[in-house]
Amino acid sequence: MDSFCRNIPKAELHLHIEGTLEPELMFELSRRNDIPLRFKTVDEVRAAYEFTGLQSFLDIYYEGAKVLVHEPDFYDLATAYFGRAAADGVRRVEMFFDPQTHMERGVSCETVVHGLFRACEDAQAKHGISAGLILCFLRHLSGEAAMQTLKEALPFKEKLLGVGLDSAEKGHPPTKFTEVFARARAEGLHAVAHAGEEGPPAYIRDALDLLKIERVDHGVRCLEDPALVARLKEGRIPLTVCPLSNVKLRVFDALEGHNLRALMDAGLLVSIHSDDPAYFGGYIGENFYATQKALDLSREEVRRLARNSFEACFLPDAQKRELRAEVDSFGS
Ligand code: ADE
Ligand code: ZN
Repeated sequence: MDSFCRNIPKAELHLHIEGTLEPELMFELSRRNDIPLRFKTVDEVRAAYEFTGLQSFLDIYYEGAKVLVHEPDFYDLATAYFGRAAADGVRRVEMFFDPQTHMERGVSCETVVHGLFRACEDAQAKHGISAGLILCFLRHLSGEAAMQTLKEALPFKEKLLGVGLDSAEKGHPPTKFTEVFARARAEGLHAVAHAGEEGPPAYIRDALDLLKIERVDHGVRCLEDPALVARLKEGRIPLTVCPLSNVKLRVFDALEGHNLRALMDAGLLVSIHSDDPAYFGGYIGENFYATQKALDLSREEVRRLARNSFEACFLPDAQKRELRAEVDSFGS
């Protein structure tokens, strides 16, 4: 079952590339760019990864990202990630990045996008993984700052797949971002948003109604609102669920208590992803395996989750069908 979970073809649709920064690379970039860290050793960094909730994680995540400065840094980060993804059976990646985290340190949006995009091109050639970039707005900042960021990115919008919304959810409703999402959609970009991770089901509704998102990132709190569940089911609106993240950030006390099976039983289009794997103790293969074990998922249920990941992705229908067929024939 371990190798079935690890190797089954899958799409990674909820991954923050800054959240793949392993402590070893953090130290290497710290030396390369002469940016001091408050940690002395890799073990010390890992020991600091005990979180009480989303905000306590974000504080350390934004701190780690400070070592990323030049285009090759972003390239190296994403290239290291694709190597791990390939080992986990990943065939498609739709990757989040947070340009505002870097722009406030004087790094241009273009530097970030070019470094990541080059790594995406290489991933196709080296691993046969197709990949796209989703520019996320930081929701603790203003709607105006988000619009400014989008405008800076539009000259190279052909390198982008879509826009997303992340960072601290509580107290930062989707309402703030109605305009910037409308503009992004008018520019032909896909739209997704984190909603219902720590925030209430109303934020999922608002993200659907106001931001017109095509996919909900996390969304696990939707079960508190039966009418919302019916709407998500009816519209086959995907939820990108991150089980190990949810435990690390105390959305659930333990993997055994995760509501993934309940989401599946409700007929929702859920899939498993890794969020910030360098911080949460596992990449997508580990998320599949740990969840399979904790919830005693059958092979057919694991297969359904993998198939859902391709249904939820933004590839053209013909490619999605081919990938789903690969899942169906895998291991049988
Ligand atoms: N940024 C990185 N990981 C995140 C998460 N799980 N929720 C919101 N913002 C994030
Ligand atoms: Zn996330």
